[in-house]
Amino acid sequence: METTELEKRRAIVAACLEMNRLGINQGTSGNISVRHEDYVLITPTSTPYETLTASDIVKLNMDGTTEGLLQASSEWRFHRDIMAAKPEVNAIVHSHPIYSTMIAIMGLDIPAIHYMVAVAGGSDIKCAPYATFGTSELSENAVKALENRKACLLEHHGIIAVGTSLSNALWLSVEVETLARQYHGTLQLGQARVLPPDEISRVLEKMGTYGHNK
Ligand code: 13P
Repeated sequence: METTELEKRRAIVAACLEMNRLGINQGTSGNISVRHEDYVLITPTSTPYETLTASDIVKLNMDGTTEGLLQASSEWRFHRDIMAAKPEVNAIVHSHPIYSTMIAIMGLDIPAIHYMVAVAGGSDIKCAPYATFGTSELSENAVKALENRKACLLEHHGIIAVGTSLSNALWLSVEVETLARQYHGTLQLGQARVLPPDEISRVLEKMGTYGHNK
């Protein structure tokens, strides 16, 4: 587990490349942040991940001011606001995976089509209403959709996954995309069948800390 600021900066760069390798992102879309002490380390805006270095990562203070060679991600507001609203969260991964984004374009929540929906913290994964990228309105909508949840969709945009660690948030991003693929496929076959809320409660209880918690 990375502990120093430099280790965290390097881990962010590695996670950006991993996002692209995993196929959950492409180009300069998406962004990542990691909490360090009383501030946040965040990817710079519009920077291709292939050329990103540890020194390019921007320091984002909780008052919104930044320190660094480059400009912070345009989505710094929701990274800052989610970190403020969820003290247990140490990392946030925002990406534009194809299937999750298709479901978000339709403005749909992902329902309990599979018991693994519980890894996001409840019986569904909510879709935050659309707002222009980088705005306070988008941030408010995202924070609300993440109440009692570790992931949400963003209408006409993508997803956010949060975690106690960066590897945890990255893992959850892939889980959400897998669920979205399953939901997308199910919708081709007819009306999606969902598990009842009491079964998801049982799964949540049984899972406990199941998942990638490194
Ligand atoms: P940034 O390059 O500013 O991080 O923006 C990418 C993005 O995905 C906006 O939602």
